[in-house]
Amino acid sequence: MKYILALDQGTTSSRAILFDRTGQIAGVAAKEHTQIYPRSGWVEHDAVEIWQSQREVARRVLSDNQIDAKEIAAIGITNQRETTVVWDRQTGLPLHNAIVWQDRRTAEFCDHLQRDGHAGVIAKKTGLVIDAYFSGTKLRWLLDQIPDARQRADRGDLAFGTIDSWLLWNLSEGRLHVTDSSNASRTMMFNLETLAWDDELLELLDVPESVLPEVCPSSFVHGDCSSDFLGHPIPLAGCAGDQHAALFGQNCTTPAMAKNTYGTGCFVLMNVGEEPVASKSKLLTTIACSGQSEPHFALEGSIFTAGSAVQWLRDGLGVIKSSGDVTSLAASVPDTGDCYLVPAFAGLGAPHWDPYARGVIVGISGGTTAAHIARATLEGIAFQVADVLDAMGADAGSPVKELRVDGGASVNDLLMQFQADILQVPVVRPRVVETTAIGAAFLAGLAVGFWADIDEVESIWQSERVFEPAMSEADVAQRRGRWHQAVQRSMGWQQ
Ligand code: G3P
Repeated sequence: MKYILALDQGTTSSRAILFDRTGQIAGVAAKEHTQIYPRSGWVEHDAVEIWQSQREVARRVLSDNQIDAKEIAAIGITNQRETTVVWDRQTGLPLHNAIVWQDRRTAEFCDHLQRDGHAGVIAKKTGLVIDAYFSGTKLRWLLDQIPDARQRADRGDLAFGTIDSWLLWNLSEGRLHVTDSSNASRTMMFNLETLAWDDELLELLDVPESVLPEVCPSSFVHGDCSSDFLGHPIPLAGCAGDQHAALFGQNCTTPAMAKNTYGTGCFVLMNVGEEPVASKSKLLTTIACSGQSEPHFALEGSIFTAGSAVQWLRDGLGVIKSSGDVTSLAASVPDTGDCYLVPAFAGLGAPHWDPYARGVIVGISGGTTAAHIARATLEGIAFQVADVLDAMGADAGSPVKELRVDGGASVNDLLMQFQADILQVPVVRPRVVETTAIGAAFLAGLAVGFWADIDEVESIWQSERVFEPAMSEADVAQRRGRWHQAVQRSMGWQQ
């Protein structure tokens, strides 16, 4: 068999990517899906549309590249995390749109949890801060708001899952109700010490255990997908949240190695080894895939708005026609003219954690043009990453020495150079920037013996370009000081 198929179900699109044994991409197919915004701060997806688009792209990547399903050794799944689906076990139909990770509808309930003094126990058990971002409060909301949902859940008729579980359920025609430890670690219900659902947290969130999936390792053969999916049964052998898969795909398998993925948001993860490290700087402690059944741990800084700020330049402001145009527009001016844009469109994540923050642009003068705003948007992405890496360095006791980058905007040389400048450490871009998908492929390939061991998958990773810092320390300090002033202005806006 020649290929591993990675299914990468992201916030804005479903993708299917084929990798050969050398880690080369043999085919890609992608399809965007609908973003539903019922109210300010609410974001939903149609879970059926997600499944159908994922199935469509998987079929397309095979037909476009004339590859037979029998040539695929295994399927690896990776997904947008935290997004919450509840479905009926009999019909397989969702009871409601999926509530997306960006959705803020449970912010008030999170305030209650905070005020009632639960932050300590939640941080200790789950490694998370209390925030509407995670699945637990979204699941509680669904059980409370959908008529009869609680009674049906108590009867065992309902299933909850993040997108990985939802896909695995559909891929197996309802035989599998499972998740992996990386996705489970984003629910606020999973105990990082015991690596199991936690009764005390389930009680706190009023979630019945009957709805929860079984938690499995990330590199694990669950069984075959149904023949209906691609015409032939194929082992479902890898499953990890997209950021965990990217950390693995970047070969950040030893402590202190860090990566950032520039997607809808930015997600910086640093491997901390075999024991969880509690953050003193408002970072999350989460699971890092190890390729073995026992996971490693990571520190994570989640930034909610990054690539979506560039989309806003395109769709909201209309100053660029396509996202790629941002580079030439930003490069048409030498600097932002002291303009700073904080893209807190969905609140601020790490290390500020303010669901009530909103975006600001400060420093506008009569001479400010769309080019300055475009440049300030790119810089705003890099400044957020720098804030997270500072916090990581503080937690780890020494600064991060290099940052591996991937995701859509990592191809933007202007942004990568500014990132290296502002961090004052090298930024390393790999040859294959599809690291999320290749991470899922590695997990699946290791489980079925397509790749022999971790050394073999590590030999596949190669650097394409290293961006060395070139800005003076004084300049960095001045700009970061101005940025922090801008961040202060964005905080608490919608409270
Ligand atoms: O935690 C949310 C994250 O997993 C979403 O990733 O790539 O779909 O923006 P992405």
